[in-house]
Amino acid sequence: MRIEGKEYHTIWFENNVVKIIDQTKLPHQFIIKDLKTVKESINAIKAMEVRGAPLIGATAAYGMVLAIIENKDRSFLKKSSEDLISSRPTAINLKWAVDRMIKKISGVNSDQILEIAVREAKEICEEDIKFCENIGLNGLKIIEEIYNKKKNTVNILTHCNAGWLATINWGTATSPIYHAHKKGIPVHVWADETRPRNQGANLTSYELNEEGIKNTIIADNTGGILMQRGEVDMCIVGTDRTLANGDVCNKVGTYLKALAAYDNKIPFYVALPSSTIDWNIKDHKDIPIEERNSDELSHIEGLDEKGDIKKIQIYPKKSKAMNLAFDVTPAKYVSGLITEKGVCEASEKGLKELFK
Ligand code: MRU
Repeated sequence: MRIEGKEYHTIWFENNVVKIIDQTKLPHQFIIKDLKTVKESINAIKAMEVRGAPLIGATAAYGMVLAIIENKDRSFLKKSSEDLISSRPTAINLKWAVDRMIKKISGVNSDQILEIAVREAKEICEEDIKFCENIGLNGLKIIEEIYNKKKNTVNILTHCNAGWLATINWGTATSPIYHAHKKGIPVHVWADETRPRNQGANLTSYELNEEGIKNTIIADNTGGILMQRGEVDMCIVGTDRTLANGDVCNKVGTYLKALAAYDNKIPFYVALPSSTIDWNIKDHKDIPIEERNSDELSHIEGLDEKGDIKKIQIYPKKSKAMNLAFDVTPAKYVSGLITEKGVCEASEKGLKELFK
């Protein structure tokens, strides 16, 4: 998608260096950053310079490529893979991507290992782009249906950033929106600010602006009243881990939006590529929920009067704060899962019908 009219992907590989857009600086500064070592990849994931389940999966895949460039020793590669997988605990895409890389390079001799690893990391990215595009085409039908009944702007609420910045291109939750816009369907997005990291304000609103899509940032607690007033036609969110029973783990606050949508009979969809499905965990209580540093709550970043990015403290110094990064929306509140293969019921039956 575009930034200032120029097409970008969120990650690419050039002259043995991985290039990323440093998302901690958006929307105020657009900085392309080089990752040259596996350690730098791990740090970029931890610091959320790259974030969003599919993108951290792709960064981990390229992290394995950088590890190979550094040292082809198998014990180094094993340790690197473990460190990459544990760099953020909740999104299953990390393990999915690293496992795929390991499988591809196992038994490959050292003359060929780099070439094969680069090809696989690129393949993971290309596949994600294709999957996200298909998610868009499948979700477009739902938006079209609403538009055909309403004959007026379709208002879509989203939480966090499941946009192209969270993937390689298109996004998951935003892909149906981009497709609807391209087709001339009038859409307007309510972007939940998404405290504490403000991905909705800093990333979703930013990327929608760059694509010319109408959007309004709202405080996280505003969605409920907008739904009661009939100002939300549907919700679409992303996910970091979807269980085989259809339960959805996503950015904290998603669950409360789903409850409000359910109470107001507003369709609540979750968009995901199959790389985000966890077929093993049976009970959502077993999903590792990331707890991040409470500084992310007690401090806030923005532009000062000189135009420099500045961080300030906003909580009482003596107060404790707790920063859980994800929550789980039970399948019963999810109207459907929009995947690369089609839209299905959020249930084991629904998922198995699409992904045998
Ligand atoms: O903490 P983040 O910014 O990595 O969380 C991102 C989300 O919760 C997204 O909704 C999810 O990863 C899906 S991205 C297509």
